[in-house]
Amino acid sequence: MSELNTIAVKILEKGKGILAADESTGTMTKRLDGVNVPSTPENRLLFRETLFSASCMSECIGGVILYDETIKQESSKRNKIPELILEMGSIPGIKVDTGAKILAGSTNEKITEGLDGLRERLKEYYKLGAKFTKWRGVYNISENYPSKLSIQSNAHALARYSALVQENDMVPIVEPEVLMEGEHSANDCFEKTSEVIKKCFEELILHKVDLKGIILKPNMILAGNKSKVKISNKEVAKLTLKCLKNSVPTEVPGIAFLSGGQSEIESTENLDLINKINDTDFIISYSYGRALQQSALKFWSRDIDNIEGTQEVFNHRAKMNTLAAQGNWSKDLEI
Ligand code: 13P
Repeated sequence: MSELNTIAVKILEKGKGILAADESTGTMTKRLDGVNVPSTPENRLLFRETLFSASCMSECIGGVILYDETIKQESSKRNKIPELILEMGSIPGIKVDTGAKILAGSTNEKITEGLDGLRERLKEYYKLGAKFTKWRGVYNISENYPSKLSIQSNAHALARYSALVQENDMVPIVEPEVLMEGEHSANDCFEKTSEVIKKCFEELILHKVDLKGIILKPNMILAGNKSKVKISNKEVAKLTLKCLKNSVPTEVPGIAFLSGGQSEIESTENLDLINKINDTDFIISYSYGRALQQSALKFWSRDIDNIEGTQEVFNHRAKMNTLAAQGNWSKDLEI
């Protein structure tokens, strides 16, 4: 087993998943505004440190994706945040893209940027303790989208990013997110997501990326949030698994979903149903942002010094998702 494969498997072994705490300062400010907490560096750190020192970090959270600000911050005990994460039994990672900008040639679509100077930034993050990285490409669905141009150019960027990350001895998380926003059907989502993922792997192979040393972070197959025709959770699970089987090479060790705007319970339930029917060798788990943090953030905002109470809420959510990653969750375990 290569070293990168060992890291990828370790992050997702035994039902463990990833905490996506890599919101940019702008996004984190929106989240904090939503619960009436001022978005200062101290408050952003306090909330995140509260999560990173919770007991579920050793049993459930195999990896944490950090943002540039956080990886350089010190905890209240004066150790660096990556050290705190390692001490808690988890693995630190870092978001390295610099965000999605309008794609020239298609004003309604986006291309993710951040390749310039990436090799140097990766060396710095590695020194700071990162063992894995994340890059998110984003696609929307409508009649003419995602266009061939957006599918091709985002796949190219994801592949160049992945090759550089592996060159620097870290595991790239490859995140092509087909957004839930829109009126499209689940079938449209299935078709477009399959096309997007297939093109990503075509480029990853062209760029000589070791597929055993990556984690794929896709969306689940869902009907658009404005679609009139919804499908059952069981249908979501079936279509999602079918899509992955058709488009992900078997060498890939692990797949960790984003939650993408699903509610906490919905994203847990869907993950559980997928694992109940998983007949592949892929480890299938979670890499959730909102679906792991929403309740904890709400609870914390009522009293930002209530560390233990906030950790309890977070521990519960992480535990539920870790059960779901093994197909062992049921609704009556929710409190
Ligand atoms: P959500 O789970 O909130 O979609 O966030 C995951 C993520 O990392 C988006 O890039």
